[in-house]
Amino acid sequence: MSVEINALESARFGITAARLTDPFAPLAQVNAAARTMNVQMMTVRVDSTDLRRVQELEDDGYRLMDTLVWYGRELVDLPEIGPSPADEIIRRAGPEDAAKVATVAQEAFAGYCGHYHSDPRLSAAAADAAYVDWAESSVARCTDSRPVLVAVAQDRIVGFLTLDLGAAEIVLNAVIPGEQGKGTYGRLIDRALATGRKAGLTCLAVSTQLNNLAPQRAWVRRGFRMQRSLHTLHKWF
Ligand SMILES: CC(C)(COP(=O)(O)OP(=O)(O)OC[C@H]1O[C@@H](n2cnc3c(N)ncnc32)[C@H](O)[C@@H]1OP(=O)(O)O)[C@@H](O)C(=O)NCCC(=O)NCCS
Repeated sequence: MSVEINALESARFGITAARLTDPFAPLAQVNAAARTMNVQMMTVRVDSTDLRRVQELEDDGYRLMDTLVWYGRELVDLPEIGPSPADEIIRRAGPEDAAKVATVAQEAFAGYCGHYHSDPRLSAAAADAAYVDWAESSVARCTDSRPVLVAVAQDRIVGFLTLDLGAAEIVLNAVIPGEQGKGTYGRLIDRALATGRKAGLTCLAVSTQLNNLAPQRAWVRRGFRMQRSLHTLHKWF
């Protein structure tokens, strides 16, 4: 069936959460399955070109929560990595950095513009915590194929970026609010591009919410191009 219980989300929000794995599944069947499985919140992602389907979902009670934009860059003609400020280094993280990266995520993702925060029926505190847990566990479980880069300024971790080299994707990244606007993120991206190329990748993808402009500016400046966008909708039963 195209309805899959999302155990992590269910635990995070104290509800029975599920995802619709086939966005085009017949809605009568989806609703019947959701009721049998006692689903409370269903999440579906639909390509933004499929507007007819988005409207069918809206008619069925789904509501728009965010729009993800995907960018990609081929790993050719990479610019030289520019100099970092004297007091900053960018290095690979180890599991021992997990708690410090969690602190960065806690500050940077508070009240974020993702689909959890946009849903008024989900706890905002639990939505904040989801990003903190995600960041912390990514560092605690980092490997050569899922490395994490950290920016350290004056001996303090001020930014991080997680990579999934198997999926050729930058996954989660943030800079602590007090240090934003200083180019730290751009330097993390430069290093991520170099890391991807060194690992033998030919391209790197990354995504964010349409209304999250700062990362998109950093990506476009570094030669990323927008490739597709997806609407995220939730329905409550
Ligand atoms: C996105 C984020 C990592 C950027 O970090 P940063 O170190 O401030 O970024 P930089 O200083 O390298 O700036 C990147 C670009 O964003 C622009 N920018 C910075 N803050 C901005 C804002 N509030 N609104 C619009 N653009 C902004 C900068 O001018 C720069 O663009 P430019 O190269 O055209 O001048 C940081 O804002 C953040 O952690 N945000 C919250 C979490 C988040 O959104 N993570 C990314 C999810 S994909």
